[in-house]
Amino acid sequence: MFGPVLKGKQITLRPPDETDAARFVAWFADLEVTRYLAERFPLSLPQEEDFIKRIGESKNDVWWVIEAEGKAIGATGIHGINWINAHATTGTVIGDKSCWRKGYGSESMALRTEYAFRHLNLHKLKSGAIMDNEPSKRALQKAGYRQVGIEREESWRDGRWRDHWLCEVLRDDWEREHPR
Ligand SMILES: CC(C)(COP(=O)(O)OP(=O)(O)OC[C@H]1O[C@@H](n2cnc3c(N)ncnc32)[C@H](O)[C@@H]1OP(=O)(O)O)[C@@H](O)C(=O)NCCC(=O)NCCS
Repeated sequence: MFGPVLKGKQITLRPPDETDAARFVAWFADLEVTRYLAERFPLSLPQEEDFIKRIGESKNDVWWVIEAEGKAIGATGIHGINWINAHATTGTVIGDKSCWRKGYGSESMALRTEYAFRHLNLHKLKSGAIMDNEPSKRALQKAGYRQVGIEREESWRDGRWRDHWLCEVLRDDWEREHPR
């Protein structure tokens, strides 16, 4: 599924349009962008179009393009939704490097978290980051995620093993911080 339009102060989450796939092709060819991602190989345009088609048809994923400064800058999603146990795993990529460190990742995660709890009725969101991905960890923490564990030497990056930081946010904890 694609998520509906969610407007924040600086960014908008929106469903993809037909121009978006080509942007992802360029972003995922950049090692700096994929440095901390699970997906580290670039896709061709047809593969990227197929990915967007499949995620749009999925009943267990909700996916958005992130827009800021009048352009698409990345994507965020809620994946592997387990509708009985009401949990899912989230992820974000800002592919346009000129848009890093402007608060857009943090705002995307905040909008997505509110949507997951208030609209999808999910109970818990899980995520993670390679230990030295400070912006990702910080943005997740600001959205309410808390550390639940560390997977030791989980990823091989830039010539050495990296620990993986695991985190979760429970809806009750998030609601306490975000009274209606
Ligand atoms: C990780 C990512 C989503 C963060 O988004 P962003 O818009 O660049 O981050 P923000 O501007 O919202 O910053 C988040 C926090 O990290 C801090 N931060 C940013 N860069 C930092 C750095 N290099 N070192 C330490 N802290 C940093 C910011 O100051 C901010 O904290 P604050 O609000 O307390 O000041 C984005 O950089 C990205 O997509 N990177 C490439 C792909 C990736 O790593 N995805 C996540 C995989 S788990």
